[in-house]
Order: sequence, then structure tokens, then C-alpha cells
Amino acid sequence: MTQVAITDTTLRDAHQSLIATRMRTRDMLPIAEKLDSVGFFSLEVWGGATFDVCIRFLNEDPWDRLRSLAEEIRETPLQMLLRGQNIVGYRHYPDDIVIKFVEKSAENGIEIFRIFDALNDIRNMEVSIRTAKKTGAHVQGTISYTISPVHTIETFVTFATELASLDCDSICIKDMAGLISPHAAYDLIKTLKDEVGLPVDLHSHSTSGMAPMSYMAACKAGADILDTAFSPFAGGTSQPPTETVVAGLYGTPYDTGLDLALLTEIKEYFDGVKEKYRSILDPVSEKIDTSVLIHQIPGGMLSNLVSQLKEQDAMDRYDDVLKEMPKVREDLGYPPLVTPTSQIVGTQAVLNVMMGERYKVIPKEVRDYVRGIYGRPPAPINKQLLAKVLGDEVAVTCRPADLLPPELEMRTREAEELGIIGKEEDILTYAIYPQIAPKFLRGEAEEEKLQMAVATAATSGSGVHAHAGIFNKFKVVVDGEAFVVEVEPTGVGEMAVATNDAKPAPASVEGGIASNMHGMVLGLKVTKGDAVEEGDVVAVIEAMKMENNIHSPHSGIVREIFVSEGATVGAGDSLMSVY
Ligand code: CO
Repeated sequence: MTQVAITDTTLRDAHQSLIATRMRTRDMLPIAEKLDSVGFFSLEVWGGATFDVCIRFLNEDPWDRLRSLAEEIRETPLQMLLRGQNIVGYRHYPDDIVIKFVEKSAENGIEIFRIFDALNDIRNMEVSIRTAKKTGAHVQGTISYTISPVHTIETFVTFATELASLDCDSICIKDMAGLISPHAAYDLIKTLKDEVGLPVDLHSHSTSGMAPMSYMAACKAGADILDTAFSPFAGGTSQPPTETVVAGLYGTPYDTGLDLALLTEIKEYFDGVKEKYRSILDPVSEKIDTSVLIHQIPGGMLSNLVSQLKEQDAMDRYDDVLKEMPKVREDLGYPPLVTPTSQIVGTQAVLNVMMGERYKVIPKEVRDYVRGIYGRPPAPINKQLLAKVLGDEVAVTCRPADLLPPELEMRTREAEELGIIGKEEDILTYAIYPQIAPKFLRGEAEEEKLQMAVATAATSGSGVHAHAGIFNKFKVVVDGEAFVVEVEPTGVGEMAVATNDAKPAPASVEGGIASNMHGMVLGLKVTKGDAVEEGDVVAVIEAMKMENNIHSPHSGIVREIFVSEGATVGAGDSLMSVY
């Protein structure tokens, strides 16, 4: 007989899954006190993509968000999702950065750390788990759940035993793609409870539609905690609805004891918030998609994939990419699809489809994965791919972070030189996102605009700034009356509205080297006057959160460079001329 507790994810996973993590702190704070009064086991409010999106798109300090939430939420433990050695980024960071980050997170208000590794490689979690334990926090050791020929109840239980031996306080089954069936949930939880003995939390997504059934089965197997989100931000690629789960368990041995009337008041608040973000709510993310049972793409990844393909102006290849995904995953040894492996598999699948040839372009992150830099894949990597990437090199077999020299001192010095440290946490922001943090910390970043903010510009006749493909509906207010205006695309990549984005020179220049994708110029490897050989790396473009090298297709002298570091370029845009 277990009473079941609830972790509410509305302020983190739910909006990460449905609106690409765009909810602002100012939309969270007014309801914080009421959320605190419900009696949730915890509120998941931080980590995952929130950190990245805050500084990249929202011009918000993630540390400030955490502190202001902690001021309002006094009773309910605040929870974060931590990507083990990846912290809140997409690569492994050295131990000194990981330790400092966990300490500072606890200091700023995190009381429960949910720690996972995309490959379920315990070596990537040890340091963060030990550090979080030292701060006195509750540590939820997490199993990244997936289905594959090499993922069985036995392998999951063995992994949970390793987590228990590091003194984790509870075990979370992180079913990021909503794949766990009621039967599988029952068997896995029952075995975990019997053999490991720690409290078990089931975290699932409604993507395939199975989650509510699996939650019921989880209760019967003895689950202690279920993850839900308020109904306006529930369903689809997000969690099952909080109100529904609470009502469904009412009067059973698993009764959550939560007040449905209070939950409904909070739901009404989030109804209003959802309206505000409607323009970026993708219908694909909101619907039940049973094809996830085949392609296994997690909630957040699916909405990201849609915006990536729109960015590349390639939504017509969506189905091809979904078909390519499981093939790439098999080649890579069946990694569970969660950050960063979801981006690794997803980006490679997109490239394989877009380039018309498999593995013609292999981004740095995929190469690193194949080299063992991310840890041990669940199954061996495809031999041909391994040979193509490794050449004469030998793959890494040690704990990947052992290869990383300490960085904290160096980053502190760099940040000091850049004059961007206002508080100690800023060093961490910079250490994790050295490319985008300086602009943000200098106060030069701008908040990405939502459709509501556009209204004034439209009425004043100064034109509308739009991000191609995402904001195609605008609410225009004229003399207090609201009109919804739809903007039609007029041609490839062009919107019928004025944009402020300066475009680089077209690709038709002499000796032009074009970007093969839409992205940001992360680095230029040459300067005007340099001699380059065919095949040399001349620039690095960050697209889909991956670094991609641009090779010169011919030899010559760099005559002109049309872009600067940090500039946004489209597929086909000329970066430089070499002849
Ligand atoms: Co999730």
C-alpha cells in the first residue's frame, strides 16, 4: 500500500517539450506561491535546456530565475535535471567545473538533483552524484529508459544497483520518449523495488499515448513518485496531466492526497500563460504520435527537430529523417535518445538525408561519440563507421572526464579579462557556454520576441521582425481591438515581412565557399590573404547545436571573408572567396 507522490514538471520539462523551453520567469513567479501550497513531492524548475535557452534566447539569467523561485517556494523542494558530466551542456566538462556547478546549484536553491547519463554510463555520473550528496541534497539516480535488443530488465537493474551503491536516495526511470508500456513499467518497477529497495519515480511523456496507463501500472508495482504537468502544458510530448492523474488515483490506495480544486485554480493560471505562447506551440508536439514507438525520439527532441528542419527549409524531409533515425541509432550502438545523444543521432540523421549520402558529413560531436569521448555505448558501434571515424586512432576506454584537464582557473581568468563577472556563478555560465555567454553577460543579448510584443511594431508601421518558419501568426492590436494576421511565405526561406537580419553575400561570387547549412558562424579558421589547400577547414558552423566543419572545396588564397564570428548564415550563403 503506497500513497503516491507527485513531481510537477510544468516549469521545466513540460515547456521544454511543448514550447522549446521558452516560458519566462515572469510567467512563473505569479503562481509560485500557490504551487508551493499544493504539497507536491517536488517541483522540477531548472536544468535540462532551461540554462541554455535562458541565455541564448530569453536574455534571462538562469541563476536569477532559480533564486527568485526559491524565494517564493519555501516548502516544496526544488528539483533540477542534471546531465551528469555534461551538467546543462552538450559535452563533458572537467570535474572541477562539475563540482562547482553542483555546489552553486545547491547553494541557490536546488534540493533534489535528478542525475542521468545518456548512455547509462555510471562513470559519467559519479562526480556529480558524490558532490550533490555532499551538499546534503536528495539525489535521484536516473535510468535513461529505452527499448533495444541490448536493454533488458537485468541491465537496468544492474545499473540501478550501481546507482544505489553511490548512495542515491531514489531511482528515477526517465522515459523521455514515452515508450514504456504498462506491462514493461510494472515489471521493471516491481523488480527494482524488490532488488534495489529504493523509492522509484516514473517519469514519462505522453507522446505515444501510453503514459497514463503505464502510470497506473507503476502504482500497482509500488512506484512512489509520478511526474506530471498541469494540463495546459501536458499531453503530447510533455507529461500526463497533473489534475487527471490526481483525480484518477482519488480514493484508491495510491491516492495522492492533493486538492483538485486548488490544482484547478493553478491550471486556470497556466491556461492564460499558454495563450501567450500559442504562436510557438507546434501542433506536432501536442498531438499523440504513435510512430514514436518506432523512431523513439524524445519529447524535447521532436519539437527541436521540427524547428531545425524548418530552419533548413526542409520540412518535406521530415518523414525521411524519422526513418533514418533508427538506422543511425543502430549504427551508434543503440544509445538511449536523450540529450546529448538525441542531438547526436538526430543531427546525423538530418545530415544523412539532406546530403543525399549517409555519413558524407560527420559532425565533431558524432566523431567524438564514436571515439568513446561520451562514454561506453550500450552495444558495439557499426564497424565501417568506426573505421571511417577512427582511422589509425584507438577509441577511448577510460572514464572520459579523466582526459579533461581542470578548466575552472583558466575560465575564471578569461572571464575576468573579458570583464563579465558580476557574481561567482557567471564564471560557470561562461565555462559552460563560452561562445554565447560573453554577449549575454555583457548585457548585449536581446530577448527573442513573442507575437504579443510584435503588435506595436506592426501598428507603428515599422515592420515586423520574424524568425522564419516559427512566427507565422501575429496578433495585431489596433485601437484596442485584436486581429490575428497570418503571414504567408513568398519564396524559399523568405517571409513576407521585413526582417532586420543582414544577409551575407550570395553564393555566386568567384571562388565562393558556401555554408552547407543554416547556422551560426562559430569560428573562422582563416584570415584574408591566407593560402588554403583543398579540404582545409576554413570555418566552423554551429547548426542544430552541433559543430560542423566547412572544408574548402578548392585551393587558393583567401580573397575576401563575408561573415564574422557569431553571424547567422543560411544554407548556400557565401562565407568567403578563395581562388
Ligand atoms: Co522528460
